[in-house]
Amino acid sequence: AITVDPTAKGAKIDDTMYGVFFEDINRAADGGLYAELVQNRSFEYSTDDNRSYTPLTSWTVDGTGQVVNDDGRLNARNRNYLSLAAGSTVTNAGYNTGVHVEEGKKYDFSVWARAESGTTLTVSLQDADGSLATARQVAAKGGWAKYKATFTATRTSSNGRLTVASSAAAALDMVSLFPRDTYKHQANGLRKDLAEKIAALHPGFVRFPGGCLVNTGSMEDYSEASDWQRKRSYQWKDTIGPVEERATNSNFWGYNQSYGLGYYEYFRLSEDIGAMPLPVVPALVTGCGQNQAVDDEALLKRHIQDTLDLIEFANGPVTSTWGKKRARMGHPKPFHLTHIEVGNEENLPVEFFARFKEFRAAIAAKYPDITVISNSGPDDAGSVFDTAWQLNKDAKVDMVDEHYYNSPQWFLQNNDRYDSYDRSGPKVFLGEYASWGNAFKNGLAEAAFMTGLERNADVVKLASYAPLFANEDYVQWQPDLVWFNNHASWNSANYEVQKLFMTNVGDRVVPSTATGTPALTGPIAGAVGLSTWATTAAYDDVKVTDADGNPLLSDDFSGDASKWTHTGGGSWSVQDGQYVQTDVAAENTMVSAGDTKWHDYDLHVKATKKSGK
Ligand code: AHR
Repeated sequence: AITVDPTAKGAKIDDTMYGVFFEDINRAADGGLYAELVQNRSFEYSTDDNRSYTPLTSWTVDGTGQVVNDDGRLNARNRNYLSLAAGSTVTNAGYNTGVHVEEGKKYDFSVWARAESGTTLTVSLQDADGSLATARQVAAKGGWAKYKATFTATRTSSNGRLTVASSAAAALDMVSLFPRDTYKHQANGLRKDLAEKIAALHPGFVRFPGGCLVNTGSMEDYSEASDWQRKRSYQWKDTIGPVEERATNSNFWGYNQSYGLGYYEYFRLSEDIGAMPLPVVPALVTGCGQNQAVDDEALLKRHIQDTLDLIEFANGPVTSTWGKKRARMGHPKPFHLTHIEVGNEENLPVEFFARFKEFRAAIAAKYPDITVISNSGPDDAGSVFDTAWQLNKDAKVDMVDEHYYNSPQWFLQNNDRYDSYDRSGPKVFLGEYASWGNAFKNGLAEAAFMTGLERNADVVKLASYAPLFANEDYVQWQPDLVWFNNHASWNSANYEVQKLFMTNVGDRVVPSTATGTPALTGPIAGAVGLSTWATTAAYDDVKVTDADGNPLLSDDFSGDASKWTHTGGGSWSVQDGQYVQTDVAAENTMVSAGDTKWHDYDLHVKATKKSGK
């Protein structure tokens, strides 16, 4: 029985309570939300990004053409270009199965070209069955200049190829094909079906751009002189301005990021869907397995200044240095930034907190109305989490971001998590949470848990589920809210739960009590996942028992490895009774195919990290 007291007043629920978390993971940006159809448009892919890449990844040259990195480049931040000989062609394979075009729709082609003696570029779209649009010809002559053409697709295909043929020698860069029909028809815009799925949630906020993406990479080489260096940490200033001047970077998740979807586009998306933008900036401490604190006072000052500049970019008048840049990009009005998060899921609480306090002091001095959000590290990190929370409480931090990924059972059993949180301490931003899976049972467990968030809306002020997107062919992390390929997208069960809560945000909690509710015990079918950040590792003697010691799964790898499947690539094989992984570019999860149980597991596994994080 449920007893409701309509006269009692529970916590007020903010309109912004439920939001989304966008991380450029699982190729969520390039080949995903960012509508560009050409993969590796600026020939910048590198083995630094992924061991399988070359500067010609996704391209095929017919005739003579090579990628060149010399002083003839388009600009200092765009290192490579393609030098194509007379009579040669170059063809791009797009993402997933190819370039997706829809009959009757318009597609805008553009290219930067240098052809001192002049050339005619013939641009065509085709698949194995023939032409997908009438070919276009573009005359190019002289130094670097941008050339454009528009196609109207005559057929629908997800297997298209874009070909550029040159009659004479030419240098090409930034070969681009964009659907005209982007979300809200914005230039350099977003793929409509994916953006519409975000908009349909009516999220209160958008947390971006990560995740581990933010607090990883080399912080040390962040200097003007190394503006085009790879594997640097994510810096918002790298992601604004003309797209041909945004130096691509090696993404922490094992691929190349073009930054075509950058801070301006994130702010614009937030505005377009009526959500509060919530950026995360690095705090000079690396996390996500890297776990290093950078000791460099000058560098710290620069990062802090960058954060102040970011606030000016978002909110400053058009007469300010960074407000002017925003206006030049097409948005003279401010983006109304009110919250900013410093650091992501930090594992070194003391070192992080020392830096956080400097960020907070500088922001408070210049922008006292901005809420500066701190971190607690991942919830399963034991003393890290406790130390971080204590530091945050002692320093009277406004809001703390905490993260957890757990079994559905855990979510069912922890509905009361926030009932006992200190009402006088920092508010909670639950920036990432999910049960391990995208099945119905996961959504159900999360829905049950979210009633506990809502009941505690006086403490839990903001909550966003795990990453928004996963391209089904490039998965580093799951669960995710929405899945897609180059032509379709589909929602998870978890998405429907999030939508239910986000589109029905109440004003106030009405206190209620329930009696006779069923006990939250009993098995739920599932699988065992072992997650690793190592590049090369070996596993042996995996044993999983329930809490009473009853065996649920065991594998000594004396036979084959048919119990296991993987995400994250690399190669896996049984060698001398061990399960050996090599060449894993990003986080990898090996998952047993067995029908074991989500329950209180005891897991025993022998693992040797041979290299990597
Ligand atoms: O959501 C994927 C990753 O999980 C995020 O990058 C990180 O913050 C967390 O560990």
